[in-house]
Amino acid sequence: MGWCLATRLVLVALLAPRVWLQFVPTTGQVEVDCLGSLARLKLNSGYFQHKYIAFAAIDKFGRAWPLDAVQATKCGYTISQDVWGNVELRASLIGCYAHLVDDQSSTLNIQIKTGRDPDLHDAAVLNVPVSCSYGPWQPREIVSVRRNVPPIPDWFLQDQPEDRVPQDQPEDWESAFTEVQAGVPSIWQIVFHMDSGKKAMLVEEAHAVGYGVNTTDTRIVLRASYNASEAQKLEVSGVPFSTVRSSTYYKQRWMLLMVDTAVACPIDGVTYTEDTIVWTIPKGIPPLLAGVGTIRDLQVEMGINLKKLPARDRERQGYALASDKEFIVLKIPIGAPDGSYKSDVVDGKLMTTYQIKPFLEHLWEDEKRGITKHTILKEISTPLRPVPVTITDYTNVSLQLFNVTIGSFLPDVELVSVTVGDSGPLPLPKAEKMGYKIYETKHPNGSRDCVLQVPFASPGVEKEYVPDNMRNYTTTPILGFVVIPQRKPFDIPVPLSVLVRDAVLPKAEGFCDDQALYLVVKRGNVDQDWLPFVGNTLLNQETAQSLGYTLQDNGTHLALRVPKHAALVLYEEVSSLGIVATFQLQLKDQLGQTEMIDFAVSCNFSPKDLIDCQPNGTVVISAVKLLGFPDMDPSGLVLKDRRCRPASATERGATFIFTVNSCGTTRKFENATMIYENEVLYFLPGQAAPVYQLKCACQYFVGAAVLLQYTPVEVPSPSILPGVGVLALSLKLARDQSYRDFYLDTEYPVTRYLREPLYFQVELLHSQDAQLELFLEDCWATSSSDRNSYPQWNVVVDSCENTEDSHQTIFHHVPQGSVPFPMHLKRFEVKMFTFMLNGQALQGQIYFHCSAVICDSSYPSSDVLCARRCIPRRQRMGRSTDSNSDLQGYVSSGAIVLGRRNHT
Ligand SMILES: *[C@@H]1O[C@H](CO)[C@@H](O)[C@H](O)[C@H]1NC(C)=O
Ligand SMILES: *[C@@H]1O[C@H](CO)[C@@H](O)[C@H](O)[C@H]1NC(C)=O
Ligand SMILES: *[C@@H]1O[C@H](CO)[C@@H](O)[C@H](O)[C@H]1NC(C)=O
Ligand SMILES: *[C@@H]1O[C@H](CO)[C@@H](O)[C@H](O)[C@H]1NC(C)=O
Ligand SMILES: *[C@@H]1O[C@H](CO)[C@@H](O)[C@H](O)[C@H]1NC(C)=O
Ligand SMILES: *[C@@H]1O[C@H](CO)[C@@H](O)[C@H](O)[C@H]1NC(C)=O
Ligand SMILES: *[C@@H]1O[C@H](CO)[C@@H](O)[C@H](O)[C@H]1NC(C)=O
Ligand SMILES: *[C@@H]1O[C@H](CO)[C@@H](O)[C@H](O)[C@H]1NC(C)=O
Repeated sequence: MGWCLATRLVLVALLAPRVWLQFVPTTGQVEVDCLGSLARLKLNSGYFQHKYIAFAAIDKFGRAWPLDAVQATKCGYTISQDVWGNVELRASLIGCYAHLVDDQSSTLNIQIKTGRDPDLHDAAVLNVPVSCSYGPWQPREIVSVRRNVPPIPDWFLQDQPEDRVPQDQPEDWESAFTEVQAGVPSIWQIVFHMDSGKKAMLVEEAHAVGYGVNTTDTRIVLRASYNASEAQKLEVSGVPFSTVRSSTYYKQRWMLLMVDTAVACPIDGVTYTEDTIVWTIPKGIPPLLAGVGTIRDLQVEMGINLKKLPARDRERQGYALASDKEFIVLKIPIGAPDGSYKSDVVDGKLMTTYQIKPFLEHLWEDEKRGITKHTILKEISTPLRPVPVTITDYTNVSLQLFNVTIGSFLPDVELVSVTVGDSGPLPLPKAEKMGYKIYETKHPNGSRDCVLQVPFASPGVEKEYVPDNMRNYTTTPILGFVVIPQRKPFDIPVPLSVLVRDAVLPKAEGFCDDQALYLVVKRGNVDQDWLPFVGNTLLNQETAQSLGYTLQDNGTHLALRVPKHAALVLYEEVSSLGIVATFQLQLKDQLGQTEMIDFAVSCNFSPKDLIDCQPNGTVVISAVKLLGFPDMDPSGLVLKDRRCRPASATERGATFIFTVNSCGTTRKFENATMIYENEVLYFLPGQAAPVYQLKCACQYFVGAAVLLQYTPVEVPSPSILPGVGVLALSLKLARDQSYRDFYLDTEYPVTRYLREPLYFQVELLHSQDAQLELFLEDCWATSSSDRNSYPQWNVVVDSCENTEDSHQTIFHHVPQGSVPFPMHLKRFEVKMFTFMLNGQALQGQIYFHCSAVICDSSYPSSDVLCARRCIPRRQRMGRSTDSNSDLQGYVSSGAIVLGRRNHT
């Protein structure tokens, strides 16, 4: 703005009585008031707002004198602007350039230049004539005009300790005589009285250092700045005063005119409570009362903005004026409508102060000077207080719009920019182009709110996933304001957030084939920044390749192929259905720290690979690391007999090779199958109970017997579907009683003659299990290879030798040491007499069949069937109908031809 706010404090001393009248002219843009000894020009804000303004006074010769700060102080002008932008000029009716008639009616011409550029090149010029009258003047009028409150410099007080305040000193002007005698005649001169001594100067000299000294028809006018070199600070009853003690004189040969021009004005004396301003003015001001014994109070009045308030209005508006012997106290409620609030910025924070311009008029009479009118004009600004800024959220989700009001602000606060994300401050039109809508709403009391509307889709609105299918829409635009007219900037961040239930989570589909697991993740609207992890490994093309995976990401889908034996495939469960391999993919937040969602694909793979039950009783188990045991060291896996350790181990698993008669393997017969069971265990050091237990079983059946389904009994611990092994049986014909030599498969059919004994051996082939014992249940002969065909001829019945028919059966003991596992063999001899068929001896081919059972020789009695066999050295027991629980098989011989010797 073009004007300069004067920070000068002005003292005006007026002398001599007279009677005055009043006249008020006006123009459209400027309102002129005559208020006491001052004229006030109020500039219409509608016309002058946002313009640069300069004032000048026009003297009687038509010359323009710019009213700059120095000139204003010296000449009795004050220029100020209120919060609402209203500019005001106050002029003393006896100020410089005023044309005074009879010390009563005053005219002056004020020129106002206004324009849009600071240099006022294209300025419009407005001449405002002012005519006012004032009266009656009191013999002595002291007007104290207090502008902004400047800090009181320390030097001001330092050589003026309180105890040196003179109480009963002689009047200053008496002590000025020495200077007056020495002074130049016929010229107005002035003597300043200071504690450091006296200082006399000519009026021109006083002008040069900033004083305003002039005469009117009847008066001497002195104006002094509060900080003038000759001003002194004085404390009166605790209130600091600025005083200028001076005597102004005019000397002629035969006459001396000498006037006491002492002034004293309070600098402070204002205290504040939460809601009240208390202004205290002491009455006994020594420089004004020098040499005076008693004073008589005549009147105490107050007003605001130069307008006197009658007592009844005063109370109605909440002001309280009290006057006692020592003090005048004016109490002003903070917020009273005559004052106004003004914004300011301190440390980037919005503050306000309440400003009001009260004045006091104190009229007293004393025996020396008659009536004195002391007028104190004061501008009070309360200490700055932070302004609470309220953000009210009217966000409407269905309109997809953040809608907030921010406020309230005084009219001197202007929104100038918006910062979105890291855009830097954007001027409002730019922000509006981005979809932001910003406007103001006015309250009846003049304050305003900002309304800010941000569509959810605008740039800078972040959408963050919040569990439960929601998204947190957030943005924090920063509103940039300035406080006019100084344009002090401050910022208000407006954090906006709203939860919207519109999250679409990524979805995954998984499938498997023999070789691999597949996972296809379809992206949602919350996972743009989520990162795929497998365990602690961030998955990208490079890591995927090194893990053996295939990764494809086309922006909307993430497709992954993971071979079943690849690293980080975990085996979750090994059950009767097979082995469950699981692959887990996690999506983590962009820092890779918080897991947002995880997907797992599980596939059943055949357990074939895991257990191999060989006919000779060798079992090969591949134990795999299961899910939930990430720290397991597979080489520490053991079998039931803990001495049995893996034959080999990798990071992912271990392989055990052992025979069924070792490593704590147990054996049981169930539903005509035989089951070997063991467990793969993992123990933590010092713990008796295993932390990992994998049940394994080999289920053997004999020959072509039906495989019976095995169901693991204990669910909690994983187990491997029993491996299936075949126990092979053979029924062979020995060449003789020594059982050393047998007919080969290629030699059948073998021809044998009647009455020649046949030496048969039934054998459990391959098995290395020394505890198995083979028993024959029944043996019989048929004429066809089908063992179920008829006729049948009994050979062994219920495990016992058939002794009833012509073809008698004899069991032969298998000597220890002759074969590795004697109990795996049974030998019997059949004496071939006749196999009678329809009363005739059978001719042609004959086949032998046996049903065999395999028993656990260590627990014969545990198996009913095995325990009751009528076998050599065994007691034949009662026949049981229950033949379910043994391992049974059938075995048949090749064809034997019953030959006839020609001579018979
Ligand atoms: C003194 O007052 C006269 C009469 O009002 C005025 O014309 C003149 O400009 C003033 N001089 C100064 C220096 O203030
Ligand atoms: C009084 O203050 C004004 C402005 O603050 C300054 O220009 C002037 O020099 C000061 N006068 C003295 C005597 O310090
Ligand atoms: C949101 O705006 C719509 C349309 O203007 C209105 O019908 C609805 O009541 C508003 N909802 C809220 C919560 O203000
Ligand atoms: C935004 O909020 C303000 C204040 O409540 C309301 O007057 C205005 O209608 C709202 N605008 C929309 C578009 O919802
Ligand atoms: C939404 O985000 C904002 C800003 O980050 C946060 O202050 C607020 O707590 C969030 N709301 C929820 C429900 O997470
Ligand atoms: C991305 O891949 C998925 C399947 O992997 C497919 O359905 C989708 O159409 C692909 N999208 C694009 C843009 O290629
Ligand atoms: C059992 O048979 C397998 C092959 O079938 C052989 O590798 C293994 O050595 C045999 N074990 C014994 C103890 O003979
Ligand atoms: C044995 O077979 C019987 C009848 O078929 C069946 O009820 C039983 O559950 C089977 N036992 C086992 C352990 O499979």
